[in-house]
Amino acid sequence: MSNLDSWRTMTAAQQPDWPDRSELEKVVAELGGLPPLVFAGECDQLKDQLAAVARGEAFVLQGGDCAETFAGATADNVRNKLKTLLQMAIVLTYAAKVPVVKIGRVAGQFAKPRSKGTEVRDGVELPAYRGDMVNGFEFTPESRRPDPWRLLRAYHSSAVTLNLARAFTKGGYADLRQVHAWNQDFVAESPAGRRYEQLAREIDQALAFMRACGADPEEFHTVEFYSSHEALILDYDRALTRVDSRTGLPYDVSAHMVWIGERTRQLDGAHVEFFSRIRNPIGVKLGPTTSPEEALALVDKLNPDNEAGRLTFITRMGASKIRQHLPTLVEKVTASGAKVAWICDPMHGNTWEAPSGHKTRRLDDVLDEVAGFFEVHRALGTHPGGIHIEFTGDDVTECVGGGQEIVEGDLALRYETACDPRLNRGQSLDLAFRVAELYRSV
Ligand code: PEP
Ligand code: CO
Repeated sequence: MSNLDSWRTMTAAQQPDWPDRSELEKVVAELGGLPPLVFAGECDQLKDQLAAVARGEAFVLQGGDCAETFAGATADNVRNKLKTLLQMAIVLTYAAKVPVVKIGRVAGQFAKPRSKGTEVRDGVELPAYRGDMVNGFEFTPESRRPDPWRLLRAYHSSAVTLNLARAFTKGGYADLRQVHAWNQDFVAESPAGRRYEQLAREIDQALAFMRACGADPEEFHTVEFYSSHEALILDYDRALTRVDSRTGLPYDVSAHMVWIGERTRQLDGAHVEFFSRIRNPIGVKLGPTTSPEEALALVDKLNPDNEAGRLTFITRMGASKIRQHLPTLVEKVTASGAKVAWICDPMHGNTWEAPSGHKTRRLDDVLDEVAGFFEVHRALGTHPGGIHIEFTGDDVTECVGGGQEIVEGDLALRYETACDPRLNRGQSLDLAFRVAELYRSV
């Protein structure tokens, strides 16, 4: 058995119950022959940038849908998401004066861990929706039956999305001279859009000055953008793991970065084992019950050579817990000499159900967890290295609060997520402005 298959003898949490293993094997064989979605060299480049984050020299902006859908892989959708991410990145770069590493939760974020294996509606019990990579969202027995051919669709949908993302970020759309254009459909109708417009005017002035001085660097015309997803369905990520011809080392070429979720980070589990074998930059989500010993054991197993940029801890404590739980974790990991980047997921510890039955989040809780994250790191002298968020470029009403003052009664107006509630574009920009303020106030 190759090292890359050592995980197969261990318990893999949250895997689908595929009705027909022989179908799965056919799919896996086909995936194994398909071209990589990303190159190992690009993964190394991201690892270098994350090393800068671990050293305190850069800031990560990682975000996208909770669950991408096949139907959602449209040009409008991908462009709106990228546009929002670029706007947030500009706010952070300009207002906080920090280089921003841009990573999408895109082009592969098709599988979801679930707290319950089944869902009951009106007395009918069916398998839970586990993401488009596994089964359908529609509540029927046919749709909810895990179908391994969906792994192949996930690959192709990722390829389409990544192709668009590369075109948008390299083909002129991400050019800094477009800072106003990204905001055009937004400026008048939203407080965040107006605030952004002011900043874009200042950037224009700065660019005009630079050009007058004869400086027009390539960095102003294209953007480095990376893909990431939770590598949950191990058969998929294993099938897309290839040995890099330059170095002879294995990389999961389905995304630049992959992470392990809060529910699958067992030290003796299959996910941690698989991740220990691939060379991509990786993340691990850490919830409020994580002990410092667990975090240190994850460091030992996943980054034994203590390579900066290899391991990112994505903490998701909840606004009411972060100030209590994060300090010891950061303190002990730092004291061990481990080189990790710390980033804050202010979404997953702050989810609740509104009386209408909608899963939602309050922007104020999200902002409070981010503020707590900065407070803790500032107090310890460590680097608050970034944020990991669920957002969309569309004007959905899934989270409450923000400049547009979305209230609980508005949730039904435009609630479209296939899983967790996402910040809409205005709320995302509100968050970016707040993070920039926190970053500046050292
Ligand atoms: C997620 O990122 O969508 C998720 C399920 O997060 P966590 O593993 O932190 O619960
Ligand atoms: Co989520």
